Amino acid sequence: MNDADVAMSNAGESALQEVRAEIDRVDRQLVQEIAEREIWVRAAGKLKAMAPAVRDPDRVQQVVTRARQIAAELGADADVVERTYRSMIAAFIDLELGQQGFIEAPVIAALTVADAGEVLTLQRAAYASEAQIYGDPSLPALVQTLPDLIAELSNCSGHKAIRGPRLVGAVRSVADRDTLHIGRLTVAPDLQGIGLGTALLAAAEADAGPDVTSAALFTGHLSAGNLRLYQRQGYVEERREELKPGVTLVHLRKPLP
Ligand SMILES: CC(C)(COP(=O)(O)OP(=O)(O)OC[C@H]1O[C@@H](n2cnc3c(N)ncnc32)[C@H](O)[C@@H]1OP(=O)(O)O)[C@@H](O)C(=O)NCCC(=O)NCCS
Repeated sequence: MNDADVAMSNAGESALQEVRAEIDRVDRQLVQEIAEREIWVRAAGKLKAMAPAVRDPDRVQQVVTRARQIAAELGADADVVERTYRSMIAAFIDLELGQQGFIEAPVIAALTVADAGEVLTLQRAAYASEAQIYGDPSLPALVQTLPDLIAELSNCSGHKAIRGPRLVGAVRSVADRDTLHIGRLTVAPDLQGIGLGTALLAAAEADAGPDVTSAALFTGHLSAGNLRLYQRQGYVEERREELKPGVTLVHLRKPLP
């Protein structure tokens, strides 16, 4: 590097430091404004009685649209403003929910092909416990590929449990003549044992068409928790089938009203 390069480099360094000092100054103003926004968000939170009022998509859209308009007026990049706002709003929603002590009740809804990615992640996490029971890390639910799952979801019905923005449970079902075949009942490991599996099973059964007279499902003979759940819900063992040495499938059936 010659002297001129060094001088330019030093000039560039000091200019950058000046610019960074300005950014730091603006950041301080921004955080002050965010702190003031928090005061008003907390005040609004106290006026909301239910979690859905906190998570209000229409209001979010209204706020974002207004922020984009202000950005346009000020010559700022509206996309950057929108993304910043959406992140900030999401953080404030979490703050409001926590402040109110709301535990968002899971919602059961129809499973669609668009859920495939999340379902795959969920089942890989949930079926790890089954893999341990059977000492087999290549259970079908663990090795299923995304294209295969997409194809499966295109040809079956299903339900999902959603909690806030997160998919926390799923079940698939296919009606064949008078039988509803239920499979891949799955609940996120951190939310098991609070009734989600039971609720998903009930949703699958309730959605059976008029020609269906019974629901059928199966689980492995060592899956004691699954067997308890199914028997508690009225499923009765129908037959056993040896899948491979050490693994027997227990087929269960329940009459539907
Ligand atoms: C099987 C599976 C879906 C069950 O989901 P889940 O949400 O834990 O099921 P539930 O919460 O309805 O029931 C599980 C237990 O919680 C209990 N429970 C349910 N609601 C409860 C509540 N409000 N308070 C306390 N306990 C509750 C149930 O009585 C049951 O207890 P038990 O295991 O002693 O019999 C879940 O364990 C899972 O994803 N497993 C891995 C994948 C798998 O094996 N799927 C089945 C393939 S056949």
